[in-house]
Amino acid sequence: MTTSTAAKRVFVKSYGCQMNVYDAERMTDVLDCEGYQATESIEAADLIILNTCHIREKAADKVYSELGRLREMKKSRQEAGLDLKIVVAGCVAQAEGQDILRRAPAVDLVVGPQSYQNLPRLLAKTTKKRTVDTDFPVEDKFKSLPSPSHDRAKVRGVSAFVTIQEGCNKFCTFCVVPYTRGSEYSRPVVEVLDEVKRLADVGVREVTLLGQNVNAYHGLDAKGQSISLGQLLSYVSEISGIERIRYTTSHPLEMDESLADAHRDIPAVMPYLHLPVQSGSDKILATMNRRHRIQDYLAAISMMRHKRPDIAFSSDFIVGFPGETDQDFAATIALVEQVGFTSAYTFKYSIRPGTPASEMDEQILEEIKDKRLHALQALIAKQQRAYQDSMVSQTLDVLVERKGKYSGQMAGKSPHLLAVAFEAPADYIGRIVKVRITDSVTNSLVGTLAS
Ligand code: 5AD
Ligand code: SF4
Repeated sequence: MTTSTAAKRVFVKSYGCQMNVYDAERMTDVLDCEGYQATESIEAADLIILNTCHIREKAADKVYSELGRLREMKKSRQEAGLDLKIVVAGCVAQAEGQDILRRAPAVDLVVGPQSYQNLPRLLAKTTKKRTVDTDFPVEDKFKSLPSPSHDRAKVRGVSAFVTIQEGCNKFCTFCVVPYTRGSEYSRPVVEVLDEVKRLADVGVREVTLLGQNVNAYHGLDAKGQSISLGQLLSYVSEISGIERIRYTTSHPLEMDESLADAHRDIPAVMPYLHLPVQSGSDKILATMNRRHRIQDYLAAISMMRHKRPDIAFSSDFIVGFPGETDQDFAATIALVEQVGFTSAYTFKYSIRPGTPASEMDEQILEEIKDKRLHALQALIAKQQRAYQDSMVSQTLDVLVERKGKYSGQMAGKSPHLLAVAFEAPADYIGRIVKVRITDSVTNSLVGTLAS
């Protein structure tokens, strides 16, 4: 077997949530130090990493069909005397470990999300033996991950993700996250601020702070005191160059006043909150082990609206959770009507092995799940469109992120996370400009530069 002498190339394909997008960057940073260049072309790669998602059955199944395709690719490479390494990372890796090696013979390495700092050592091991590392190391993996090089940091564009908290202790009965990402961990304040500073230095203007329970953040500051997300937002907003801050995903139980105050007092904190509720029925919330009632959710919404009246809300919903009756579903519809979401993610309940809900009686028929999903999606789409349409003839601050779909066009986001397209010079990327909105089309606003 020969390995090419040119620079090695790595292709990472991420599935699932934004944390996987961030992890893909960090894995590429580690490999950059080992001489691997990132490539956008799977055919050009010597190393392919599938950064997988285990949240729903469909997401997990995709991995195995992709691995089937990669097996063919590896075979033809080997016939040509070339090497191709295949790595499965992310939450399927964590959940299924050794089983992946058994089911997918082309895989060289299975690595869980807490072990990415070990990638170089693990890859070296694969020359002798197919390998699995799904340990939850005690040491701080973030500390062992190298900082991105200047060039690597620049790849992040003007809007970047930064994980500040990982894992979950809440154990909602439908969810695999506590098993795949482990228990809650908050990165220390200095570590977060250093990373954001480095990103700001290479042109990042907007950061989205990530965590499975991001508002449960309680990282330690330099004095060893734990600080809240609200306080962290204030520190991040002081970093020169950072003009916008977002965070996701929040849990209704962890909404505190310091966070609401941050939305009122810090201009860089965007008026947008993703606050999953999952269901509008107290009975279902209880069997989901969400540990709050609808009235608590509504109290959090009104606290935020009181401090920041224009704040936009999005949410996650699961339909067809075991035991969900027509009446429970009607309560979800009523909640959506009452709150008014500017966007939302809707899912059919998916049985996840090993979670308590997978063993509950009264699993719901697929046809009923489909019907409820469509009804909910139709209502949310209507709200989303009405909200977007209400922006026509307003002038919005838009962070210019990239070229638009048509020639001469640029694209960016409004403070409320609406996509906006408008004509502007390409070197406007990274600027916040005023755009007068002239039209609302499917999934985007269209406007003209007003400044
Ligand atoms: N089935 C369907 N949706 C799920 N989610 C998490 N677990 C499941 C499951 N088993 C959804 C929840 C969560 C989002 C990230 O994914 O709505 O907030
Ligand atoms: Fe999963 Fe619930 Fe934790 Fe969110 S809060 S990651 S839904 S267990």
